[in-house]
Formats: sequence, structure tokens, C-alpha cells
Amino acid sequence: MVYVTRKAHFSSSHRLYNPAWANEKNQKVFGKCNNPNGHGHNYDIEVTVAGDPPHETGMVIDLKKLADILEEEIVERVDHKHLNEDVDFLKGIIPTAENMAIAFWKILNPKITEGKLHSIKLYESYNNFVEYRGE
Ligand code: NI
Repeated sequence: MVYVTRKAHFSSSHRLYNPAWANEKNQKVFGKCNNPNGHGHNYDIEVTVAGDPPHETGMVIDLKKLADILEEEIVERVDHKHLNEDVDFLKGIIPTAENMAIAFWKILNPKITEGKLHSIKLYESYNNFVEYRGE
């Protein structure tokens, strides 16, 4: 099994809050991330596809195709957007890195027809990232 990864980058703003909670509880749970007018992150995403390279091509997945899927399905829909307001597939979801990785998986998984989607890593900052493997 070989693991092939494509990276991409996007910048977005968001606000972490639970509309079911009072302001004080949101402030206590989410702290600075609950800032009413949002705040921004420079995100990095790594999408890994696993498979055995077929004899005919030697490629688990054509990296150009993976790059195009990632760009069209994710980056173009979230880059320079407010994740709470502008992104249809995140409506009603608290846009933490965890929830974003799950939402990205749901979009990308059916689009990966060569190999098998193995993991999505989403870096919200240099030190903080999450990984989702569809489990
Ligand atoms: Ni944040």
C-alpha cells in the first residue's frame, strides 16, 4: 500500500459559538474564538489517498486529478470566505477544524475514484491540526 498526499492552502474567517447557548457560556467554552465578528486562520490541508500502484500506470491516483478535485471541491468554496456565513456545506455546523475535516471528507470521498481516501489533515495553525480517517 502506498500513501499519496496532496497539500493545499486557504485562508478563511470563522466564529466558534453554539447558538443554543447564552453569551457567557459561549465565551467560557470558546474564549477568543468566540469573538463576535470572527477571526481568521491560514489553513493547510493534506489529503492522502491509499492504494497499490497499478502496473500499467504506476500511480495510485493521478496527482493532477487529486489537485483539481481538492481545488474545485474545497479550496474554491472556502478560501477568503467566512465559514459560518458563506459556505453552504458548513451551515449549522460549528466550524472547528474537527468539523471541517469531517465535512471535507464527505465531499471528497465520493470524488476519489482511484485508490481510496485515507485521511484528511487540517492545520488550523502551525501547532494545531486535526486528522480524520472516516472512522
Ligand atoms: Ni479560530
